[in-house]
Amino acid sequence: MLRFLRVILTGLLGFLFDGVGAFGVGAYGGVRVVNGDHHCSGRVEVNLHDKWGTICDHDWDMQAATVVCAELGCGIAESASRGAEFGPGGGEIALRSIHCKGHESSLIHCDAFISRNYFCSHQNDAGVKCSGTLMEPRLSVLSPHFVFSAGESVHFYCNIQPRDRVSNVHLYKHGVETPLVTQSADPTQIGVSLVLSDVESFQQGSYSCQYNIRGGFPPHRITSPTSHPVNITVVDLLTPHHWYNTSSEAPTGSVIKGEGFNITCSTPRPYPGASFQLRLVRSNGTLRQSLPAVSKSVTFTFPNAQSSNEGYYYCLYRVQLGGRTFVSRESQPLPIAIKDPDPLLSPMVISWLVSGVTFVIAVIIIFTVAKVMCNKEKQPSELERETRTCVDNTYVALSVHKL
Ligand SMILES: *[C@@H]1O[C@H](CO)[C@@H](O)[C@H](O)[C@H]1NC(C)=O
Ligand SMILES: *[C@@H]1O[C@H](CO)[C@@H](O)[C@H](O)[C@H]1NC(C)=O
Ligand SMILES: *[C@@H]1O[C@H](CO)[C@@H](O)[C@H](O)[C@H]1NC(C)=O
Ligand SMILES: *[C@@H]1O[C@H](CO)[C@@H](O)[C@H](O)[C@H]1NC(C)=O
Repeated sequence: MLRFLRVILTGLLGFLFDGVGAFGVGAYGGVRVVNGDHHCSGRVEVNLHDKWGTICDHDWDMQAATVVCAELGCGIAESASRGAEFGPGGGEIALRSIHCKGHESSLIHCDAFISRNYFCSHQNDAGVKCSGTLMEPRLSVLSPHFVFSAGESVHFYCNIQPRDRVSNVHLYKHGVETPLVTQSADPTQIGVSLVLSDVESFQQGSYSCQYNIRGGFPPHRITSPTSHPVNITVVDLLTPHHWYNTSSEAPTGSVIKGEGFNITCSTPRPYPGASFQLRLVRSNGTLRQSLPAVSKSVTFTFPNAQSSNEGYYYCLYRVQLGGRTFVSRESQPLPIAIKDPDPLLSPMVISWLVSGVTFVIAVIIIFTVAKVMCNKEKQPSELERETRTCVDNTYVALSVHKL
């Protein structure tokens, strides 16, 4: 209400009262720029009480221009122009003077004056040149592929709209708030190279770039929209490890000829579509075979070990991604010797057999002797029986004789 009264008073007594705000409730209807070479530059016109009018340039400065550019969504102010640079306007001179601090979002928050002791004509019409909104940059990768090996450098290129001031170009990774790489661009540059060196597997993902420029008064930055994302993949193949299995009788490091054995290769970090390669280094050459890595580990089967299977076995892991082939380092050598099966009558077996047979013979002898002795005692022989009969008869005879 007080402000509204002030506006009315200002209108009536403008020439006499300096420093009274011009914008009241409902009085201000916006700002526009006309006659410039793009929609963010030109003569500044304000709408007061439904009429468009110009602004006198006596107090016109960068702070006011900064507010106009912000209000129009036109980025930062590059200049505040005086002397009807964009041609004299036709309507009223709506404001004789305006004072902004520069951080206001609209002219309505500035101190504006309809009248002041200035002589103003349309030859004093104020104008602005704003940066306009920044165009979306374009990010690309300066290599024919998007898949990288851990430790390589990725060269990105961010195309920007050339500005008449230095800008900063940032490379962002999706999900990370701070830029990973920042480069400054000279005013004439249409693009900036951004290098991500020594990439690691956790750095694979989606990247984009963005640039900003600094200007206006007080100086501040405006930021471009974000470029379209570019995906990169980082392959880090770890060295596989491997082991072998065979029937348990074989001594460590060897396989019995004719038996089966297995060699299993395993990687700690699998990739889809990869394969394992098993290399056998023999005295007379090298033999390779591959199996698709359907899981973290794969087993090479040898159902019938022969001397041609003897040698040093190595595993490696390979994967084709994005038109490139990546190969891990080879595992440590795994030596496998092929042993002839043990002959049936080895010295140990023979000594076991000898002692076993000796034992059995001894037992038989002892048993036989014992049996013979026992039979002698229990079953009297024909002669013994006869002798006894004789003795009995004698005895009987003797006793008969006595009787
Ligand atoms: C990039 O990766 C994201 C997930 O990280 C995915 O949603 C998007 O489709 C990918 N874009 C391209 C072009 O491959
Ligand atoms: C195969 O050999 C590995 C290492 O020597 C051992 O840990 C594993 O238990 C063996 N597997 C079988 C089925 O014998
Ligand atoms: C080798 O692997 C196969 C299957 O993976 C298994 O049936 C066989 O018992 C293994 N042989 C040995 C000697 O470990
Ligand atoms: C190497 O020797 C093995 C037998 O020891 C034989 O089967 C194989 O063909 C030989 N390879 C070459 C390349 O001579």
